[in-house]
Amino acid sequence: MSDERRERRIRVRASGSYDVVVGRGLIGRVGELVRDAEAAEGRSLDGTCLVVSDDNVGPLYADAACASLRAAGFDAHDVRMPAGEATKCLARYGELLGAAADAGLTRSGLVVALGGGVIGDLAGFVAATYMRGCRLVQVATSLLAMVDSSVGGKTAIDLPQGKNLAGAFLQPDLVVCDLDALRTLPASFLSDGTGEVVKYGIMCDPELFAWLDAPVMGQEGRVVARCVAIKRDVVEADEREAGERKRLNLGHTVGHAIERCSGYTIPHGHAVAAGCAIMARACAARGLCAGEDAARIVRMIAGHGLPTTTTYGADELYAAALHDKKRVGDGMDVVLVRGVGATEIRRVSLPELREIIEEGL
Ligand code: GLY
Repeated sequence: MSDERRERRIRVRASGSYDVVVGRGLIGRVGELVRDAEAAEGRSLDGTCLVVSDDNVGPLYADAACASLRAAGFDAHDVRMPAGEATKCLARYGELLGAAADAGLTRSGLVVALGGGVIGDLAGFVAATYMRGCRLVQVATSLLAMVDSSVGGKTAIDLPQGKNLAGAFLQPDLVVCDLDALRTLPASFLSDGTGEVVKYGIMCDPELFAWLDAPVMGQEGRVVARCVAIKRDVVEADEREAGERKRLNLGHTVGHAIERCSGYTIPHGHAVAAGCAIMARACAARGLCAGEDAARIVRMIAGHGLPTTTTYGADELYAAALHDKKRVGDGMDVVLVRGVGATEIRRVSLPELREIIEEGL
């Protein structure tokens, strides 16, 4: 069996312990995977489960997921939301809580988030808060969800005032990454996830960075597993983002500002990629990173069809960045680029943040 066809399991040991299963044909086996994971942990579920997807993913995979869950003895309820970031809102959150109650979910009921980052965050927040918390399984169908958002227990919705402003930590019981789902992913979604993959390479893994001289597709198994392993290590060291987990925010301060300035029309991974390039250039300008490393980073991002800058000016981006959750009084924790595979978390003053943004553009 080629290495790319091999099923991989990465164990995450945080406040809850669980496997991230990376492989093929997994959506059609999700019922058995959930049943086995719950049995292995000695947990018993009440049998009711809410399968949350959207109107892109639902028509492709919800029937197969629900059939598999039913075959494994679950009473699966199929709920589909409109696709897109706008769904991560209070109204849809309320709707899903109502759907959970209507389905008769109890505290030992299960929410299955079947989709990308938006559905994972939203359905995860429902699971974290319904009856003060029920069980959650993440079935990631986008590259971004596989390498980042489905792992580590962050759940959230957006408020009109900003992204992810209401949320909770809830570690899932199981994460399923079905690599076959990447084949049906539109190219722009694939490059969006690649933005987060490049981020991991810059953050701490020069070997992963070098793998990305080739496209992700063709080596998606090892790429997803490597990113999950990096995230596992970070989450195990700092589940609640008191320190080390902040490193995952590389490119995110400027990235979130770009998303906000665009009214969330620029997708997250694209904005993060631009944020990483801006940070790399700023750090090179400050003598914190070799110019050649910054140039390699910018070339790599561009090579994957991702943006390396933005049309928004420093003032606009700075104003938008002030809404970031990472703001601490009159400072901000930013992740500086020290080279390919080397980063540093540093608290900077707000005027310094403004300078960094300007130098990176
Ligand atoms: N996506 C960043 C984190 O999970 O901490």
